[in-house]
Amino acid sequence: MMTVLITGASSGIGEGLAKSWADDGCRVIACGRDAARLEALRQYSPLISLRQFDMTDAQACREALADCRVDLAVLCAGTCEYLDRGVIDVDLIARVMSTNFTGPINCLAALQNTLAPGSRVVLVSSMAHWLHFPRAEAYGASKAALTWFANCLRLDWEPKGVAVTVVSPGFVDTPLTRKNDFPMPAKVSVGQAVAAIRRGVAKGRAHIAFPTGFSLALRLLASLPQFMQNALLRRMVRS
Ligand SMILES: NC(=O)c1ccc[n+]([C@@H]2O[C@H](COP(=O)([O-])OP(=O)(O)OC[C@H]3O[C@@H](n4cnc5c(N)ncnc54)[C@H](OP(=O)(O)O)[C@@H]3O)[C@@H](O)[C@H]2O)c1
Repeated sequence: MMTVLITGASSGIGEGLAKSWADDGCRVIACGRDAARLEALRQYSPLISLRQFDMTDAQACREALADCRVDLAVLCAGTCEYLDRGVIDVDLIARVMSTNFTGPINCLAALQNTLAPGSRVVLVSSMAHWLHFPRAEAYGASKAALTWFANCLRLDWEPKGVAVTVVSPGFVDTPLTRKNDFPMPAKVSVGQAVAAIRRGVAKGRAHIAFPTGFSLALRLLASLPQFMQNALLRRMVRS
């Protein structure tokens, strides 16, 4: 029976993935901080067990994950906060970087000696760093850093037989995006996100991006000369 560890399992995409893998008979180790939402998830299936910890705390990660032996680790937990009109808020930036970049690395560090050949780690990034969106200084930088880290790690972990996948979602309807006060083109449901991630993982993909049309459109824009990209992105700057 496959064992899947999922961070961010108390909400949104991570919760959807946890339920989906449990539905298919996998043992799921569901991680998060919110005790009530984790407990509700545990009651969903006897195959789900819990680990409650803050992944920005390296020691807490080591203690929570020390006894975990997993076939698949999906590091999905993350946060999104935007800068307001270019005001550099160092506390906000530190929060976003420590959750989206240092947090997954703390988890990887805690798991690295127990991941067996044939296992896979999946890091949930974002398309937000493909273009230099205004207000996304912190969020985009955190996901760019995570993606860079994962793409290097893929090569370094190949010899030990541990695969690394990067997931780049567009907009998904979750508590994270329900705070947004701007149009979110091509937004998909958690169910669609779960299906796309599971399809990509099953095929052993190194990169998973969805929805496909939105991903292609962003890649096309990102291939334009920077001055042309800026002409488009400038329209999104708030006065
Ligand atoms: N939704 C989108 O449109 C979208 C698009 C691109 C990428 N993503 C990425 O997808 C991932 C999941 O996002 P989502 O939309 O499902 O968000 P969500 O519903 O807000 O869920 C975020 C999850 O992360 C956990 N988390 C946050 N900070 C944590 C910390 N310090 N320690 C441990 N767990 C922590 C939360 O746990 P608690 O609630 O228990 O604290 C929660 O389970 C994130 O990495 C996000 O950046 C989302």
